[in-house]
Amino acid sequence: MKVLLVGSGGREHAIAHKLCQSPTLDQLYVAPGNGGTARLPKSENIPIDAEQIEPLVAFARDHAIDLTVVGPEAPLVAGIVDAFQAAGLRIFGPMRAAAQLEGSKAFSKRFMQRWQIPTGQAEIFDDFDEVMRYMRTIDFVPVIKASGLAAGKGVIIPTTVEQAADVARAILLDRRFGEAGATLLVEEKLAGPEVSVLAFCDGRRSILMPTAQDHKRLRDDDRGPNTGGMGAFSPSPLVTPALLAEIERVALQPVLEGMAAEGTPYVGVLYAGLMLTEQGPRVLEYNCRLGDPETQVLLPLLASDLSELLLACTDGALDRVQPRWRKESAVTVVMASEGYPDEYRTGLEIFGVNDAEATGCTVYQAGTRFKDARLITTGGRVLAVTATARTIEHAARRAYNGVKRIRFAGAHYRRDIGLPYKTPPNPKRPTAKGKN
Ligand code: AMP
Ligand code: GLY
Repeated sequence: MKVLLVGSGGREHAIAHKLCQSPTLDQLYVAPGNGGTARLPKSENIPIDAEQIEPLVAFARDHAIDLTVVGPEAPLVAGIVDAFQAAGLRIFGPMRAAAQLEGSKAFSKRFMQRWQIPTGQAEIFDDFDEVMRYMRTIDFVPVIKASGLAAGKGVIIPTTVEQAADVARAILLDRRFGEAGATLLVEEKLAGPEVSVLAFCDGRRSILMPTAQDHKRLRDDDRGPNTGGMGAFSPSPLVTPALLAEIERVALQPVLEGMAAEGTPYVGVLYAGLMLTEQGPRVLEYNCRLGDPETQVLLPLLASDLSELLLACTDGALDRVQPRWRKESAVTVVMASEGYPDEYRTGLEIFGVNDAEATGCTVYQAGTRFKDARLITTGGRVLAVTATARTIEHAARRAYNGVKRIRFAGAHYRRDIGLPYKTPPNPKRPTAKGKN
């Protein structure tokens, strides 16, 4: 089988790494890939960006690709699945209409309201005067969300009503997030720890992955600005089997049923970002893809063939597979460039990846490439060092053993990934979200 994988981050290296273990894989192409995907057996990077949909369709057709797998959300929201299907090509991911669950927070909120999915109460606006009229009627400080894709920066948690008004003005009138802010949500503020629950979906059925949690803040103890994610672990100790069954019933099944009933069956990975409030789980957002860095802890726990699972989804036949998951824990520690998530330098040589892997870790590469046979940095999040073990604490210790062997100028990483549950979870969460 020939597979085309779209994307270039740590998530895509983890997907590629897993696909390369498949006995049915003959050749993997990664568009555009990174230093990690360049060195996998049977894998080759091709210089087409993830958002160049027509060139990707042409490549898949010319190379008789059997399956295309899409990592990031932007091409999904832009309709890459529709374009491939129109060309008669098999592709894993939701169609444009279904990907609006991530692409439009207004669509997503209305969908949740229609299907009675537990989520924060919210009003949707595209007129600033109406926002102001509404804000005068509420007696709480709301969360403000730009509706469209805003590179993860579109959720703002003000501390006063005046600040909330300023944020609404900046989004709607000043277009701080461009057209992503043509519509905004004024949402009730929720509190509690956050967990990620992801599932493979075939349009009607879904198969859950183990639960995960990510660490979004830059610095230890959840301090500093938000990032795309500085690490993750799986499974979440907060989600009991009973709670997971509840989440599946109230937050995942209704999406499958609702999407099918509305004529846009959901195929691909459905990712529910949930807050565990005192009133029960609440959906904060849906993503239409695997998470980054959650993928770097979920796929190492998958003991069976990933390509078989993806094909079962695209064929509407999830009942024919029964994935096996290792009964272990996984931790990934992100090593980032100095300055990330703001400005950072690139082109710095990376040393010690092989030494780290010799300790038993897997080093997923995110912002890297090879230049004259030297591995250099190209991004803010550079590497995700993953280890598995019997417990999260053991896995974290192993991952940090690997991290210690890797060097590049200015490398920084959190020292507490996977370790929050030595102390009670901190319910105070980030005040805004940033990615990549
Ligand atoms: P979202 O992109 O909607 O998941 O929001 C990004 C982050 O903002 C979440 O991971 C939460 O940390 C925070 N957040 C979003 N919605 C709320 C809310 N209603 N109350 C409190 N925090 C929120
Ligand atoms: N780790 C969060 C995300 O992938 O959106």
